[in-house]
Amino acid sequence: RPRVLSGVQPSADSLHLGNYVGALRNWVRMQDENDCIFFIADMHSITVPQGPAELVNRTRVTAAQYIAAGIDPERSTMLVQSHVPEHAQLAWVLNCITGYGEAARMTQFKDKSAKQGNDATTVGLFTYPVLMAADILVYQSNLVPVGEDQRQHLELTRNLAQRFNTRFGETFTVPEPKIMRETAKIYDLQRPTAKMSKSADSDNGLIRLLDPAKKNAKKIKSAVTDDGTEIRFDRDEKPGIANLLTIYSAMTDRPVAEIVAEYEGKMYGHLKVGLAEVVNEALDPIQKRAQELLDDPAELDRILARGAEKGREIAATTLAEVHEKVGFLPPQ
Ligand code: TYM
Repeated sequence: RPRVLSGVQPSADSLHLGNYVGALRNWVRMQDENDCIFFIADMHSITVPQGPAELVNRTRVTAAQYIAAGIDPERSTMLVQSHVPEHAQLAWVLNCITGYGEAARMTQFKDKSAKQGNDATTVGLFTYPVLMAADILVYQSNLVPVGEDQRQHLELTRNLAQRFNTRFGETFTVPEPKIMRETAKIYDLQRPTAKMSKSADSDNGLIRLLDPAKKNAKKIKSAVTDDGTEIRFDRDEKPGIANLLTIYSAMTDRPVAEIVAEYEGKMYGHLKVGLAEVVNEALDPIQKRAQELLDDPAELDRILARGAEKGREIAATTLAEVHEKVGFLPPQ
């Protein structure tokens, strides 16, 4: 069975709707036909400053949301990145076949480092995409379900895999990105031309999975739309409405056209009320389940320990082969 791998950074108290619709929801579906590994990218999180107490907590909260959203730890492997040291070990080797200029061209790095300035930007942030490549390649992954913002990192991953294979002999599976066209980019509710992101300027455009229903409904109802009145899907002319329709469609598994038909002749306000209901109906069971899981952190930790054990078996095999191929003297 094809191996699927993906992860989210535990750098907020809750995942947001972009993570859920763009990534997590697709992961859930992929469990039936694939051998899936879903991990929590705590090592990626510390590329920007994190409070230690928050990070521990957010790692568990993220794990709880995976399960609450439908990841089944019996069928899929769930693990914490830092529990499998082979990620970092492979990242080092990959760092040494990555061009400085190649890494400097990563647009996410350019954006984030421009915001932070040279002195606040860490070398960890610079080499972040290489660690991401290691996450993927260490498990010989075939498919990587992500949102549009990760496309360039996946391209780098493929280049590094091919480069290593050419230089040292066939070693890595070259992975394919799996980016769902419709939901690849969920936009900020206040700025429907910018992606929904935990680091947005205003909090009002961000829907958090674990926020109270009232708060989320209020944000949806004050989403920015346009001056017109017609509800139709048009990314260029009506980015706000298009975003609301995309979210509606994703949360209900109904085609956009069907929703447009349902709201024909109605006002934007109606669509927003309907969307708020749909979102909260979907989030309510997730919130309840996540809370139950967080009430028993020991059980959550056991699930993650089992996942790390399974992950290490695969990762250790890859790493041993890599070390041998680059000419590291095997330890006796
Ligand atoms: P992160 O934590 O920023 O986001 C997690 C996932 O959510 C997707 N996403 C979105 N999708 C649609 N619309 C949005 N507004 C939106 N915002 C976020 C992201 O594309 C991603 O799939 N580098 C990764 C974590 C990572 C990873 C990996 C992923 C580390 N190693 C290996 C896959 C494979 C990241 O920062 O995601």
